[in-house]
Amino acid sequence: MNFFSYKDGIYSAEDVPLDRLAEEVGTPFYCYSSATLERHYRIFSQALPADSLIAFSVKANGNLGVLKTLGRMGAGADVVSGGELKKARAAGIAADKIVFSGVGKTKEEMQLALAEGIFQFNVESEPELDALNAVALAMGKQAPVTLRINPDVDAKTHAKITTGTSETKFGIPFAHAREAYGTAAKLKGIAIVGIDVHIGSQITDLAPFEAAFRRVGELAQTLRADGHAITRLDLGGGLGVPYIEDNQPPPDPAAYGAMVTRVTKGLDCRLIFEPGRLIAANAGVLVTRVIYVKRGDAKTFLIVDAGMNDLIRPALYDSHHEIVPLREPVPGADRVTYDVVGPVCETSDLFAGARALPELKPGDLVAIQSAGAYGAVMASSYNARPPAAEVLVRGPEWAIVRARLTHEQLIAQDHIPDWLVG
Ligand code: LLP
Repeated sequence: MNFFSYKDGIYSAEDVPLDRLAEEVGTPFYCYSSATLERHYRIFSQALPADSLIAFSVKANGNLGVLKTLGRMGAGADVVSGGELKKARAAGIAADKIVFSGVGKTKEEMQLALAEGIFQFNVESEPELDALNAVALAMGKQAPVTLRINPDVDAKTHAKITTGTSETKFGIPFAHAREAYGTAAKLKGIAIVGIDVHIGSQITDLAPFEAAFRRVGELAQTLRADGHAITRLDLGGGLGVPYIEDNQPPPDPAAYGAMVTRVTKGLDCRLIFEPGRLIAANAGVLVTRVIYVKRGDAKTFLIVDAGMNDLIRPALYDSHHEIVPLREPVPGADRVTYDVVGPVCETSDLFAGARALPELKPGDLVAIQSAGAYGAVMASSYNARPPAAEVLVRGPEWAIVRARLTHEQLIAQDHIPDWLVG
């Protein structure tokens, strides 16, 4: 459930009508709902054992306003770069609630994370283990480490967001896990604390999660028998969300929590979770204005002022996002089938193909739903388009949490070398 709905005939975020924001902020803009972020966080945390650490996956939405909203609820952060680590800290998230994932951590990032005193490193390979050991020893520290194990479980999601099969670059193959833990135990700069797993994103079936977590549970017992101190299990993120409301809904957090509790029973480990999409996706919309309605021979194109540079998911993953007009349609109004496209010069700049919508005119506003995760964070300035602004709403209040760059600011990022001046 989210807090976007029609109020007095206008699609609103909580108590703020989005057409008013469009006037004040200009389009396109992302709009996030605090109450929705908080609700999703609360429901997820209530489904899990009380001492679990919920480390919001900053890659899904790294806006400081969003991070601070979640941090105040008790969330930690799952980060994959020095930049994300600094953002989480800038939003006031304590270092001892931050986990650092990713296959390519550099020495500089390791130094930063050790200096901050983060909760744990999720290490993805033996070379990374060696590098972290060297950095930690040079700083006179020990790095708290889980090894990310690749359980070779197919999450049955889109190929581009599958991470837990042996074909992908992620984690240490399950069959090599004992050996890798044996190596880690000999490194004085490394303190083994647990096991990490993450099998993919937008997972809509509990079975692959359960299969992966069972493998992790068995491994925990084997590793303990080998003499390793396994006190934490990081079970990753990945729980899917509904993108189409009347489709079969993904498992709800309560069912996920019950499964996790059952599978990890008796292991006596602190659990860590890294949800991103589940918290943020349906807490955000992208508001855009119709520029033209273009009638082609084969199709009618609704050309809007947001582009694939603002929201790349449909182009990259063929993802479905519901689109609603900001002005509430009269019940039973005729529908027109549109291809909803942006202004970017690529055929893939398509938000929705053959979508039936109430008739729209130039100047009308629409909201592209489920855009709060992997939306603004994946934006670019392709076609020299300043990415959409970001707005956070809380009840009747709203604030611009990231302003749209001006063309001048965008241009000022480039530098003309001396030999071309004059
Ligand atoms: N932890 C790790 C180690 C991850 O790699 C990811 C996502 C997460 C947690 C958070 O997963 P979530 O709960 O959000 O599913 N850009 C793609 C999604 C890429 C996900 C990558 N990893 C999209 O727009 O669908």
